[in-house]
Amino acid sequence: MVEKKDILNLDKFSIKEINDLMNMADSFTEILKRDVKKVPVLRGKTIINLFFEPSTRTKVSFEIAAKRLSADLINFSPNLSSLKKGESEIDTLKTINAMKIDLVIIRHSDSGYINYFAKNIPVPVINAGDGKHEHPTQALLDLYTIYKNFSKLEGLKVAIVGDILNSRVARSDIKLFNKMGLDVKVVAPSMLIPQNFSCFNAKIHSNIEEVISEADVLYMLRMQFERQDKKFYPSTKEYNEFLSLNLSRLNKMKKDSIIMHPGPVNRGIEISDEVMEMQEIVKDKIKINTQVANGVAVRMAVLYYALS
Ligand code: NCD
Repeated sequence: MVEKKDILNLDKFSIKEINDLMNMADSFTEILKRDVKKVPVLRGKTIINLFFEPSTRTKVSFEIAAKRLSADLINFSPNLSSLKKGESEIDTLKTINAMKIDLVIIRHSDSGYINYFAKNIPVPVINAGDGKHEHPTQALLDLYTIYKNFSKLEGLKVAIVGDILNSRVARSDIKLFNKMGLDVKVVAPSMLIPQNFSCFNAKIHSNIEEVISEADVLYMLRMQFERQDKKFYPSTKEYNEFLSLNLSRLNKMKKDSIIMHPGPVNRGIEISDEVMEMQEIVKDKIKINTQVANGVAVRMAVLYYALS
């Protein structure tokens, strides 16, 4: 039996397979520049977006990606479903599967729960973010954004700043960036670093000033307040002093370096208002909207991979 192509994380993908996905994203980027941004490659396929946690970018991006490949995409709303009548999540998934869908995209707040879902249905499952665990398509679009900017990956210095402990983006990014030969550092105080962090192979700094002038990529993370059952940082003032990106720090960055953030940004915490307001002026440096734009092509590649 051929194994179904789930994408729960990127651990089993070889460097070649990652490069193949990025090349595929490149061809879709070309299609997205056309007047008619649609190709018939997934015509007749039905995809369901199952988001048990809030989302703007990832959910819409998957929807646009599916539609540009001519698939039919259904957005399932847990709050308006029989889950409210007490049906379990796994029974809900099996009910949806009985309607002959071809692929499920899932976001869930419980780390690892999507792996359990994937074992229980016969169609491919794509992880759109599970708890603090993994966010593989975000990691791919981040890698793609870096590659498109620098035309290389090997040896680039990336500093990932902020809430490493609670961030699925940090976990997926660090693993993928290391695999692809980037030099990864993290900047976070000890209370925002997971206990098992030594297995991640990234040097830890506690002050953004230590990396600001040498980083090619400054990757700012959102403080995951919704996952923090206690206060992980004393105050915003303190956060601003050691971890935030403000105008004076922006001016210390290397000439061709870039700033990334997975969104949504907590203005005034990880990035100051003034820097956020400069996005249009310093487009070459602040790549947050480029990440969003690249997300569509990358997710087209992922859907095509999983269904072809
Ligand atoms: C991220 C997520 O939900 O994990 N956002 C996203 O998918 N663009 C990051 C975040 O919410 O901090």
